[in-house]
Amino acid sequence: MLNALQKIKEQAAQTLANAQDSKALDELRVKYLGKKGELTTILKQMGSLSAEERPKVGQLANEVRASIESLIAEKNAALKAAMLDKRLELETIDVTMPGKAAPLGHAHPLSKVLEELKEIFMGMGFSVVEGPEVELDYYNFEALNIPKNHPARDTQDTFYINDNVLLRTQTSPVQIRAMEKQKPPIRIISPGRVYRSDAVDATHSPLFHQIEGLVVDKGVTMGDLKGTLEQFVKRLYGDHSVVRFRPHHFPFTEPSAELDVQCFSCGGKGCRLCKGEGWIEILGCGMVHPKVLSICGIDPEIYSGFAFGMGLERIVMRRYNIDDMRLFFENDVRFLNQF
Ligand code: FA5
Ligand code: MG
Repeated sequence: MLNALQKIKEQAAQTLANAQDSKALDELRVKYLGKKGELTTILKQMGSLSAEERPKVGQLANEVRASIESLIAEKNAALKAAMLDKRLELETIDVTMPGKAAPLGHAHPLSKVLEELKEIFMGMGFSVVEGPEVELDYYNFEALNIPKNHPARDTQDTFYINDNVLLRTQTSPVQIRAMEKQKPPIRIISPGRVYRSDAVDATHSPLFHQIEGLVVDKGVTMGDLKGTLEQFVKRLYGDHSVVRFRPHHFPFTEPSAELDVQCFSCGGKGCRLCKGEGWIEILGCGMVHPKVLSICGIDPEIYSGFAFGMGLERIVMRRYNIDDMRLFFENDVRFLNQF
């Protein structure tokens, strides 16, 4: 029995030294020290020993158990240390490696061109002001010489919050707000969202953006209006751009006009985009109606002014040769990435 114990001790020392991981180590612990383990099996047989042998075997058995236990503890510590080393090695950070670049977005084409446009007008001495999108009927229509039941309201149907409050259909109400707040000379532009009950197509959207412009001073003429807008178009699209002023009617300007640029898609021949006309309307404009000046407390005998309102989407379409307005609102990154 003493021999058997000695053999277990030697064998255990060897196998424990070769254990590769903590699972193997645990299996060995069960093999030697477990309830059905080799050492226990021998101790169970001690009953058959003589009184003389029993303490000797008992003592050796205890020694063997102690030595196996300490070997297991040592090996366990060694395995843990090795695992930590390995992890440290694997997780080493190479600070010289190139980083992963987070995909960076950029401004929407509408915002980009709006910034350009502001720059151009600020360079001409205009300042930028804002007005509310939820607007009073008074500012959106009444004060602009469009009373209730005026046919001009038909083309600008919108969402009414109540009889007096609506989603603005144009940025022109900012003209009135500016003139109420400020005495001439006035030279402002005002960009923002507007809403109309228009059917969606390549050049129409129920939500779009306008940029309003207003100049009021002594001696302002239609020549100033034409010069300012022609200059603006050339700064934005280049000196070769072809524009035309076409007589029109707005209740709040007199005389009134619309400014068209030659269709960039067909060069004036007529196509789907310009609906066969060869020209695309980008803005409405005119001399501020004397009635509107009076409503705002500005004497039309002393002051005159011009105003314009342009559609940002159509301006941007012309700028980048985009042939469908819907692309601006679909948020397809394959489209947006191109700008
Ligand atoms: C107006 O809204 C006037 N307030 C413009 C104005 C201002 C005239 C100051 C005189 C003085 P109009 O309804 O034509 O006018 O719209 C102006 C521009 O908005 C158009 O030239 C066009 O570029 C754009 N626009 C109009 N409707 C839509 C739409 N549904 N989708 C996108 N753009 C539109
Ligand atoms: Mg129009």
